[in-house]
Amino acid sequence: MTVKTNIQLGRSESDPDVLLEVENLTVSFPTDDGVVNAVRGVSYQLRRGEAMGIVGESGSGKSVSSLAVMGLLPKSARVSGSIRFQGESLLGKSENQYAEIRGNKISMIFQDPLTSLNPVYTVGYQLAEAVLAHNDVSKQGAHDRAVELLRLVGIPFPEQRVSNYPHEMSGGMRQRVVIAIAMANNPDVIIADEPTTALDVTVQAQVLEALEAARAETGAALVLITHDLGVIAGHAERICVMYAGKLVEVGSIDDIFYRPRMPYALGLLGSLPRLDSSSKQRLTPITGAPPSLVNLPAGCPFTPRCPLAQDVCEENEPNLVATDSSAHLAACHFHEKLVGVSARQLFSTTSADPDLIDSADQEVAQ
Ligand SMILES: Nc1ncnc2c1ncn2[C@@H]1O[C@H](COP(=O)(O)OP(=O)(O)O)[C@@H](O)[C@H]1O
Ligand code: SF4
Ligand SMILES: [Mg+2]
Repeated sequence: MTVKTNIQLGRSESDPDVLLEVENLTVSFPTDDGVVNAVRGVSYQLRRGEAMGIVGESGSGKSVSSLAVMGLLPKSARVSGSIRFQGESLLGKSENQYAEIRGNKISMIFQDPLTSLNPVYTVGYQLAEAVLAHNDVSKQGAHDRAVELLRLVGIPFPEQRVSNYPHEMSGGMRQRVVIAIAMANNPDVIIADEPTTALDVTVQAQVLEALEAARAETGAALVLITHDLGVIAGHAERICVMYAGKLVEVGSIDDIFYRPRMPYALGLLGSLPRLDSSSKQRLTPITGAPPSLVNLPAGCPFTPRCPLAQDVCEENEPNLVATDSSAHLAACHFHEKLVGVSARQLFSTTSADPDLIDSADQEVAQ
Protein backbone atom coordinates (compact mmCIF):
# COMPACT_ATOMS: atom_id res chain seq x y z
CA MET A 1 0.00 0.00 0.00
CA THR A 2 2.80 2.35 0.96
CA VAL A 3 4.61 1.49 -2.23
CA LYS A 4 1.57 2.34 -4.29
CA THR A 5 1.14 5.68 -2.57
CA ASN A 6 4.74 6.63 -3.14
CA ILE A 7 4.53 5.79 -6.83
CA GLN A 8 1.39 7.82 -7.02
CA LEU A 9 2.88 10.81 -5.34
CA GLY A 10 6.23 10.45 -7.11
CA ARG A 11 8.18 12.40 -4.52
CA SER A 12 10.55 12.27 -1.65
CA GLU A 13 9.18 12.97 1.82
CA SER A 14 11.19 16.14 2.15
CA ASP A 15 10.44 17.74 -1.23
CA PRO A 16 10.37 21.43 -0.25
CA ASP A 17 8.50 22.35 -3.42
CA VAL A 18 5.38 20.46 -2.39
CA LEU A 19 2.84 22.99 -1.19
CA LEU A 20 -0.32 20.99 -0.93
CA GLU A 21 -0.43 17.30 -0.26
CA VAL A 22 -3.70 15.38 -0.27
CA GLU A 23 -3.40 11.78 0.77
CA ASN A 24 -6.09 9.14 0.65
CA LEU A 25 -8.83 11.74 1.09
CA THR A 26 -12.25 10.21 1.62
CA VAL A 27 -15.45 12.22 2.00
CA SER A 28 -18.91 10.76 2.49
CA PHE A 29 -22.31 12.19 3.32
CA PRO A 30 -24.93 10.24 5.23
CA THR A 31 -28.30 10.90 3.55
CA ASP A 32 -31.82 9.44 3.78
CA ASP A 33 -31.05 7.34 0.70
CA GLY A 34 -27.82 5.94 2.11
CA VAL A 35 -24.20 7.07 2.36
CA VAL A 36 -22.95 9.12 -0.61
CA ASN A 37 -19.30 8.20 -1.15
CA ALA A 38 -18.38 11.45 -2.86
CA VAL A 39 -14.57 11.19 -2.66
CA ARG A 40 -12.93 7.77 -2.37
CA GLY A 41 -9.24 7.82 -1.55
CA VAL A 42 -7.90 10.73 -3.57
CA SER A 43 -4.18 11.53 -3.37
CA TYR A 44 -2.32 14.27 -5.15
CA GLN A 45 0.42 16.78 -4.66
CA LEU A 46 0.68 20.32 -5.85
CA ARG A 47 4.10 21.89 -6.17
CA ARG A 48 4.96 25.55 -5.86
CA GLY A 49 3.86 27.48 -8.96
CA GLU A 50 2.50 24.40 -10.72
CA ALA A 51 -0.84 24.36 -12.58
CA MET A 52 -2.82 21.15 -12.23
CA GLY A 53 -6.18 20.39 -13.80
CA ILE A 54 -8.86 18.16 -12.32
CA VAL A 55 -11.34 16.98 -14.94
CA GLY A 56 -14.40 14.76 -14.71
CA GLU A 57 -18.12 14.69 -15.33
CA SER A 58 -20.56 16.41 -13.03
CA GLY A 59 -20.91 14.54 -9.74
CA SER A 60 -17.46 12.92 -9.83
CA GLY A 61 -16.32 14.58 -6.57
CA LYS A 62 -14.24 17.46 -7.92
CA SER A 63 -15.88 20.20 -5.85
CA VAL A 64 -16.22 18.12 -2.70
CA SER A 65 -12.51 17.25 -2.73
CA SER A 66 -11.61 20.93 -3.09
CA LEU A 67 -14.10 22.11 -0.49
CA ALA A 68 -12.39 19.66 1.86
CA VAL A 69 -9.08 21.43 1.23
CA MET A 70 -10.70 24.79 1.98
CA GLY A 71 -12.42 23.51 5.14
CA LEU A 72 -15.77 24.41 3.62
CA LEU A 73 -17.60 21.08 3.74
CA PRO A 74 -20.99 20.96 5.47
CA LYS A 75 -20.95 19.61 9.03
CA SER A 76 -22.66 16.41 7.89
CA ALA A 77 -19.57 15.40 5.87
CA ARG A 78 -17.39 12.56 7.15
CA VAL A 79 -13.79 13.15 6.16
CA SER A 80 -10.72 10.96 6.50
CA GLY A 81 -7.22 10.89 5.09
CA SER A 82 -4.85 13.81 5.25
CA ILE A 83 -4.55 17.28 3.75
CA ARG A 84 -1.29 19.09 4.39
CA PHE A 85 -0.41 22.60 3.37
CA GLN A 86 3.30 23.44 3.61
CA GLY A 87 3.65 20.35 5.76
CA GLU A 88 0.94 21.40 8.22
CA SER A 89 -2.22 19.35 8.60
CA LEU A 90 -5.40 21.22 7.66
CA LEU A 91 -7.99 18.65 8.70
CA GLY A 92 -9.20 19.41 12.19
CA LYS A 93 -8.21 23.09 12.13
CA SER A 94 -10.64 25.44 13.88
CA GLU A 95 -12.68 27.99 11.95
CA ASN A 96 -10.38 30.77 13.24
CA GLN A 97 -7.27 28.93 12.13
CA TYR A 98 -8.80 28.33 8.72
CA ALA A 99 -9.68 32.02 8.36
CA GLU A 100 -5.93 32.75 8.42
CA ILE A 101 -5.35 30.40 5.51
CA ARG A 102 -8.40 31.02 3.36
CA GLY A 103 -7.96 33.90 0.95
CA ASN A 104 -4.49 34.51 2.32
CA LYS A 105 -2.59 31.29 1.57
CA ILE A 106 -5.21 29.37 -0.43
CA SER A 107 -7.97 31.09 -2.42
CA MET A 108 -10.90 29.50 -4.13
CA ILE A 109 -12.85 30.77 -7.15
CA PHE A 110 -16.31 29.32 -7.65
CA GLN A 111 -18.33 28.76 -10.81
CA ASP A 112 -20.91 31.45 -10.20
CA PRO A 113 -19.36 34.85 -9.45
CA LEU A 114 -22.67 36.16 -8.14
CA THR A 115 -22.51 33.83 -5.17
CA SER A 116 -19.00 35.09 -4.34
CA LEU A 117 -19.79 38.81 -4.66
CA ASN A 118 -22.02 40.77 -2.34
CA PRO A 119 -24.64 42.67 -4.39
CA VAL A 120 -24.89 45.58 -1.95
CA TYR A 121 -21.23 46.65 -2.03
CA THR A 122 -19.13 48.02 -4.88
CA VAL A 123 -16.48 45.73 -6.31
CA GLY A 124 -13.86 48.21 -5.09
CA TYR A 125 -15.15 47.94 -1.53
CA GLN A 126 -15.08 44.14 -1.70
CA LEU A 127 -11.57 44.09 -3.12
CA ALA A 128 -10.37 46.56 -0.50
CA GLU A 129 -11.96 44.42 2.25
CA ALA A 130 -10.04 41.39 0.99
CA VAL A 131 -6.79 43.39 1.07
CA LEU A 132 -7.48 44.86 4.53
CA ALA A 133 -8.38 41.44 5.99
CA HIS A 134 -4.77 40.24 5.79
CA ASN A 135 -2.63 43.39 5.40
CA ASP A 136 -1.80 46.41 7.48
CA VAL A 137 -2.51 49.11 4.88
CA SER A 138 -4.47 52.38 4.87
CA LYS A 139 -7.90 52.61 3.28
CA GLN A 140 -6.39 54.65 0.45
CA GLY A 141 -3.70 51.99 0.02
CA ALA A 142 -6.36 49.27 -0.15
CA HIS A 143 -8.34 51.30 -2.69
CA ASP A 144 -5.25 51.81 -4.86
CA ARG A 145 -4.50 48.10 -4.67
CA ALA A 146 -8.13 47.37 -5.71
CA VAL A 147 -7.67 49.47 -8.86
CA GLU A 148 -4.35 47.77 -9.58
CA LEU A 149 -5.92 44.31 -9.17
CA LEU A 150 -8.74 45.18 -11.56
CA ARG A 151 -6.16 46.32 -14.09
CA LEU A 152 -4.18 43.10 -13.66
CA VAL A 153 -7.19 40.95 -14.51
CA GLY A 154 -7.86 42.96 -17.66
CA ILE A 155 -10.80 45.14 -16.62
CA PRO A 156 -10.81 48.27 -18.80
CA PHE A 157 -10.99 51.68 -17.07
CA PRO A 158 -10.35 50.20 -13.61
CA GLU A 159 -10.40 53.65 -11.93
CA GLN A 160 -14.06 53.96 -12.94
CA ARG A 161 -15.02 50.28 -12.71
CA VAL A 162 -13.85 50.11 -9.10
CA SER A 163 -17.01 52.02 -8.13
CA ASN A 164 -19.37 49.62 -9.92
CA TYR A 165 -21.74 47.29 -8.15
CA PRO A 166 -21.61 43.66 -9.31
CA HIS A 167 -24.92 44.01 -11.22
CA GLU A 168 -23.37 46.78 -13.32
CA MET A 169 -20.86 44.32 -14.75
CA SER A 170 -21.15 41.45 -17.23
CA GLY A 171 -20.75 37.84 -16.05
CA GLY A 172 -17.22 37.63 -17.46
CA MET A 173 -16.20 40.86 -15.76
CA ARG A 174 -17.65 39.73 -12.45
CA GLN A 175 -15.67 36.51 -12.68
CA ARG A 176 -12.53 38.56 -13.30
CA VAL A 177 -13.33 40.57 -10.18
CA VAL A 178 -13.59 37.31 -8.24
CA ILE A 179 -10.18 36.33 -9.62
CA ALA A 180 -8.83 39.73 -8.56
CA ILE A 181 -10.15 39.11 -5.03
CA ALA A 182 -8.62 35.64 -5.02
CA MET A 183 -5.19 37.04 -5.87
CA ALA A 184 -5.44 40.07 -3.58
CA ASN A 185 -3.19 38.62 -0.88
CA ASN A 186 -0.68 36.84 -3.10
CA PRO A 187 -1.87 33.36 -2.16
CA ASP A 188 0.33 30.31 -2.66
CA VAL A 189 -2.52 28.28 -4.13
CA ILE A 190 -5.58 29.28 -6.18
CA ILE A 191 -8.29 26.66 -6.63
CA ALA A 192 -10.63 27.57 -9.50
CA ASP A 193 -13.74 25.39 -9.52
CA GLU A 194 -15.34 25.50 -13.00
CA PRO A 195 -14.48 29.21 -13.32
CA THR A 196 -15.69 29.44 -16.92
CA THR A 197 -18.62 27.04 -16.98
CA ALA A 198 -21.34 29.66 -16.66
CA LEU A 199 -19.82 31.84 -19.40
CA ASP A 200 -19.96 31.81 -23.17
CA VAL A 201 -16.92 30.74 -25.15
CA THR A 202 -15.41 34.15 -25.98
CA VAL A 203 -15.75 35.30 -22.40
CA GLN A 204 -14.25 32.01 -21.20
CA ALA A 205 -11.01 32.88 -22.94
CA GLN A 206 -10.83 36.25 -21.16
CA VAL A 207 -11.44 34.65 -17.79
CA LEU A 208 -8.72 32.05 -18.41
CA GLU A 209 -6.37 34.87 -19.40
CA ALA A 210 -7.21 36.64 -16.15
CA LEU A 211 -6.35 33.45 -14.27
CA GLU A 212 -3.02 33.29 -16.10
CA ALA A 213 -2.40 36.92 -15.16
CA ALA A 214 -3.17 36.11 -11.53
CA ARG A 215 -0.68 33.23 -11.63
CA ALA A 216 2.00 35.34 -13.29
CA GLU A 217 1.57 38.12 -10.76
CA THR A 218 1.41 36.02 -7.61
CA GLY A 219 3.40 32.93 -8.60
CA ALA A 220 0.54 30.92 -7.10
CA ALA A 221 0.05 27.26 -7.91
CA LEU A 222 -3.29 26.61 -9.60
CA VAL A 223 -5.82 23.81 -9.33
CA LEU A 224 -8.13 24.23 -12.31
CA ILE A 225 -11.29 22.16 -11.97
CA THR A 226 -13.49 21.59 -15.00
CA HIS A 227 -15.76 19.06 -16.68
CA ASP A 228 -14.28 20.21 -20.01
CA LEU A 229 -10.90 18.74 -20.90
CA GLY A 230 -10.59 21.40 -23.61
CA VAL A 231 -10.36 24.15 -20.99
CA ILE A 232 -7.32 22.58 -19.37
CA ALA A 233 -5.05 22.40 -22.42
CA GLY A 234 -2.78 25.41 -22.32
CA HIS A 235 -3.61 26.23 -18.72
CA ALA A 236 -2.20 23.28 -16.77
CA GLU A 237 0.91 21.14 -16.89
CA ARG A 238 -0.61 18.10 -15.26
CA ILE A 239 -4.08 16.55 -15.31
CA CYS A 240 -5.96 14.41 -12.83
CA VAL A 241 -8.99 12.65 -14.32
CA MET A 242 -11.69 11.93 -11.77
CA TYR A 243 -14.49 9.38 -12.01
CA ALA A 244 -16.97 8.27 -9.35
CA GLY A 245 -15.02 9.89 -6.52
CA LYS A 246 -11.57 8.57 -7.52
CA LEU A 247 -8.63 9.67 -9.57
CA VAL A 248 -8.57 7.27 -12.51
CA GLU A 249 -5.73 8.76 -14.53
CA VAL A 250 -2.94 11.21 -13.67
CA GLY A 251 -0.32 12.49 -16.07
CA SER A 252 1.15 15.37 -18.00
CA ILE A 253 -0.92 17.13 -20.65
CA ASP A 254 0.85 15.01 -23.28
CA ASP A 255 0.22 11.78 -21.36
CA ILE A 256 -3.51 12.41 -21.19
CA PHE A 257 -3.99 13.98 -24.63
CA TYR A 258 -1.70 11.69 -26.66
CA ARG A 259 -1.47 8.41 -24.75
CA PRO A 260 -4.37 8.03 -22.33
CA ARG A 261 -4.41 4.71 -20.50
CA MET A 262 -7.86 4.65 -18.98
CA PRO A 263 -10.92 4.23 -21.22
CA TYR A 264 -12.81 7.04 -19.50
CA ALA A 265 -9.98 9.52 -20.18
CA LEU A 266 -9.89 8.34 -23.78
CA GLY A 267 -13.65 8.83 -23.94
CA LEU A 268 -13.33 12.41 -22.69
CA LEU A 269 -10.85 13.05 -25.50
CA GLY A 270 -13.23 11.54 -28.03
CA SER A 271 -15.89 13.99 -26.90
CA LEU A 272 -13.68 16.98 -27.72
CA PRO A 273 -14.07 18.78 -31.06
CA ARG A 274 -10.78 18.50 -32.98
CA LEU A 275 -9.76 21.67 -34.78
CA ASP A 276 -6.88 19.85 -36.47
CA SER A 277 -9.01 17.03 -37.83
CA SER A 278 -8.74 16.92 -41.63
CA SER A 279 -11.62 14.50 -42.12
CA LYS A 280 -15.13 15.24 -40.94
CA GLN A 281 -14.86 12.84 -38.05
CA ARG A 282 -17.81 12.81 -35.75
CA LEU A 283 -17.32 13.17 -32.03
CA THR A 284 -17.43 9.93 -30.09
CA PRO A 285 -19.31 10.61 -26.89
CA ILE A 286 -19.25 8.12 -24.02
CA THR A 287 -22.71 6.66 -23.72
CA GLY A 288 -24.47 6.11 -20.40
CA ALA A 289 -24.24 8.04 -17.18
CA PRO A 290 -21.90 7.95 -14.19
CA PRO A 291 -22.99 5.61 -11.38
CA SER A 292 -24.78 6.67 -8.24
CA LEU A 293 -22.29 7.18 -5.44
CA VAL A 294 -24.70 5.54 -2.98
CA ASN A 295 -24.04 1.81 -2.65
CA LEU A 296 -21.48 1.67 -5.44
CA PRO A 297 -21.14 -1.94 -6.57
CA ALA A 298 -17.77 -3.66 -6.24
CA GLY A 299 -15.47 -3.46 -9.21
CA CYS A 300 -14.54 -0.71 -11.60
CA PRO A 301 -17.27 1.94 -11.56
CA PHE A 302 -16.76 2.53 -15.31
CA THR A 303 -17.73 -1.08 -16.14
CA PRO A 304 -21.27 -0.43 -17.47
CA ARG A 305 -19.93 2.17 -19.94
CA CYS A 306 -16.67 0.54 -20.91
CA PRO A 307 -16.29 -1.34 -24.20
CA LEU A 308 -13.18 -3.06 -22.81
CA ALA A 309 -14.87 -4.40 -19.66
CA GLN A 310 -14.30 -8.06 -18.74
CA ASP A 311 -15.52 -10.14 -15.80
CA VAL A 312 -12.61 -9.06 -13.62
CA CYS A 313 -13.76 -5.44 -13.95
CA GLU A 314 -17.03 -6.25 -12.21
CA GLU A 315 -15.24 -7.95 -9.37
CA ASN A 316 -12.16 -5.87 -8.57
CA GLU A 317 -11.73 -2.14 -8.62
CA PRO A 318 -8.34 -1.38 -10.22
CA ASN A 319 -5.72 0.61 -8.32
CA LEU A 320 -4.05 3.68 -9.73
CA VAL A 321 -0.72 2.31 -10.97
CA ALA A 322 2.23 3.56 -12.99
CA THR A 323 1.93 2.95 -16.74
CA ASP A 324 4.53 4.09 -19.30
CA SER A 325 6.30 6.25 -16.68
CA SER A 326 6.22 6.65 -12.92
CA ALA A 327 4.41 9.98 -13.37
CA HIS A 328 1.69 8.60 -15.65
CA LEU A 329 -0.82 6.63 -13.62
CA ALA A 330 -4.02 4.89 -14.59
CA ALA A 331 -6.66 2.81 -12.84
CA CYS A 332 -7.57 0.16 -15.40
CA HIS A 333 -6.94 -3.58 -15.45
CA PHE A 334 -6.27 -3.34 -19.18
CA HIS A 335 -4.35 -0.09 -19.48
CA GLU A 336 -1.74 -1.73 -21.76
CA LYS A 337 -4.48 -2.52 -24.25
CA LEU A 338 -5.12 1.15 -24.87
CA VAL A 339 -1.73 1.79 -26.47
CA GLY A 340 -2.38 3.27 -29.89
CA VAL A 341 -6.18 2.94 -29.67
CA SER A 342 -8.31 5.95 -30.59
CA ALA A 343 -11.55 6.95 -28.88
CA ARG A 344 -13.39 6.25 -32.12
CA GLN A 345 -12.01 2.72 -32.31
CA LEU A 346 -12.84 1.99 -28.70
CA PHE A 347 -16.22 3.60 -28.32
CA SER A 348 -17.64 2.66 -31.70
CA THR A 349 -17.60 -0.95 -30.47
CA THR A 350 -20.61 -1.81 -28.34
CA SER A 351 -18.83 -4.55 -26.46
CA ALA A 352 -15.24 -5.59 -25.96
CA ASP A 353 -13.69 -6.30 -29.32
CA PRO A 354 -10.46 -8.21 -28.67
CA ASP A 355 -9.52 -8.20 -32.37
CA LEU A 356 -9.55 -4.45 -32.55
CA ILE A 357 -7.51 -4.13 -29.42
CA ASP A 358 -5.05 -6.87 -30.42
CA SER A 359 -4.47 -5.35 -33.83
CA ALA A 360 -3.84 -1.98 -32.25
CA ASP A 361 -1.24 -3.60 -30.01
CA GLN A 362 0.52 -5.08 -33.03
CA GLU A 363 0.52 -1.76 -34.87
CA VAL A 364 2.26 -0.10 -31.98
CA ALA A 365 4.70 -2.97 -31.53
CA GLN A 366 5.92 -2.69 -35.13
N1 LIG B 1 -23.79 18.14 1.05
C1 LIG B 1 -23.94 17.01 0.34
N2 LIG B 1 -24.75 16.03 0.78
C2 LIG B 1 -24.91 14.88 0.08
N3 LIG B 1 -24.29 14.62 -1.08
C3 LIG B 1 -23.48 15.57 -1.58
C4 LIG B 1 -23.26 16.82 -0.90
N4 LIG B 1 -22.40 17.58 -1.64
C5 LIG B 1 -22.09 16.82 -2.73
N5 LIG B 1 -22.74 15.64 -2.69
C6 LIG B 1 -22.63 14.56 -3.67
O1 LIG B 1 -21.26 14.24 -3.81
C7 LIG B 1 -20.98 13.87 -5.14
C8 LIG B 1 -19.84 14.67 -5.68
O2 LIG B 1 -20.25 16.01 -5.81
P1 LIG B 1 -19.33 17.17 -6.38
O3 LIG B 1 -18.00 17.12 -5.75
O4 LIG B 1 -20.10 18.44 -6.22
O5 LIG B 1 -19.21 16.79 -7.92
P2 LIG B 1 -18.54 17.63 -9.09
O6 LIG B 1 -17.97 18.87 -8.51
O7 LIG B 1 -17.51 16.70 -9.66
O8 LIG B 1 -19.65 17.89 -10.05
C9 LIG B 1 -22.29 14.04 -5.91
O9 LIG B 1 -22.91 12.79 -6.02
C10 LIG B 1 -23.07 14.97 -5.05
O10 LIG B 1 -24.46 14.76 -5.22
S1 SF4 C 1 -10.94 -1.69 -15.37
FE1 SF4 C 1 -12.24 -2.67 -16.90
S2 SF4 C 1 -14.18 -1.52 -16.85
FE2 SF4 C 1 -12.64 -0.31 -15.79
S3 SF4 C 1 -11.89 1.05 -17.33
FE3 SF4 C 1 -10.51 -0.72 -17.32
S4 SF4 C 1 -11.35 -2.13 -18.83
FE4 SF4 C 1 -12.92 -0.60 -18.41
MG1 LIG D 1 -18.47 20.86 -8.98
